[in-house]
Amino acid sequence: MARGDGLITHDDLAGYEAAWRDPIVFSYRGHTIISMPPVSSGGATLAAIAGILTGFPLGELVYHGPQHAHLLAEAWKRSYADRNAYLADPDFVAMPLAEMVSAEYGASRRSTIDPDRATPSSEIGPGLGTPEREHNTTHLSVVDAEGNAVALTTTINSFYGSKVTVGGAGFVLNNEMDDFASRPGFPNQYGLVQGENNAIEPGKRMLSAMTPSIVERPDGTLLYVTGSPGGSTIITNIFQNISNVIDFGMNVRQAVNAPRLHHQHLPDRIQYEPGALSAVTVGRLRSMGHVVEERFSPTAMYPYIGDVQAIMIMEDGRLEGWSDPRRGGAAVGY
Ligand code: DON
Repeated sequence: MARGDGLITHDDLAGYEAAWRDPIVFSYRGHTIISMPPVSSGGATLAAIAGILTGFPLGELVYHGPQHAHLLAEAWKRSYADRNAYLADPDFVAMPLAEMVSAEYGASRRSTIDPDRATPSSEIGPGLGTPEREHNTTHLSVVDAEGNAVALTTTINSFYGSKVTVGGAGFVLNNEMDDFASRPGFPNQYGLVQGENNAIEPGKRMLSAMTPSIVERPDGTLLYVTGSPGGSTIITNIFQNISNVIDFGMNVRQAVNAPRLHHQHLPDRIQYEPGALSAVTVGRLRSMGHVVEERFSPTAMYPYIGDVQAIMIMEDGRLEGWSDPRRGGAAVGY
């Protein structure tokens, strides 16, 4: 750090301890989902999305038809508006977590969705009032022979982090500071427009979107272990991944491979992976008032959203693992 004119001291590192946080646990159509609590926004935002969408019969809709894509986008916009305003390091800010994930709030957020029209993001604010304080990444999923499950996402933020290596030490420094709102109200590298709650303060942890998640069947048995990299797209990706299993009855390979959609409140547009939406559906969504864009990148890597590593536990106890073909990784058995 000193060699590179960095700010972090030996005392900062010595004073840093991993903190135990209780997971976010919520139910979705009778299934129990166990996911990552703050300082990731993943589990709470996933729960908020599920709380809105549980009121719609997703599994009866045409997969990635206009109604399905519309409802996803409308739920995501509302949930990211709340995420960006409220969520942050629980040691520093009070958050309306219980309300955000409650059935009543889900129902009230749901009631503002027009089935035929996109609500512009400019008309969607955080739904629980002003926050009290006015003033590269990898996922792995494991299930062992005893049925214990681990969903683990780890991040240095961008590819190669800050791109600074520590000579002789064998690791690169992350650029996690961009997960803070370094300038509240302005977009970070993922386009997330976040508020004062997540502003930089000494000793504070930055707000993540990591969403490592474990899903239990209504009878309490283990069904699914999942997670992904992907910055701001992780939460919507993992909602779709879980919904693909619960609502659409997909197997693990189908659930992971299915092309993905994304909306994060701002910028106000639905993005879709190449091939995810038909031209007819894009036209219909536009006529409903959505801005719809295919993800595009000259580098070919970024049109794709995330890189899910998932395991499904079959009724007979067999495990089916699948590694997303979008980036890298592998599924291995024992
Ligand atoms: O914790 C977060 O939300 C980010 N640091 C994740 C970054 C990420 O997934 C980058 N991978 N594509």
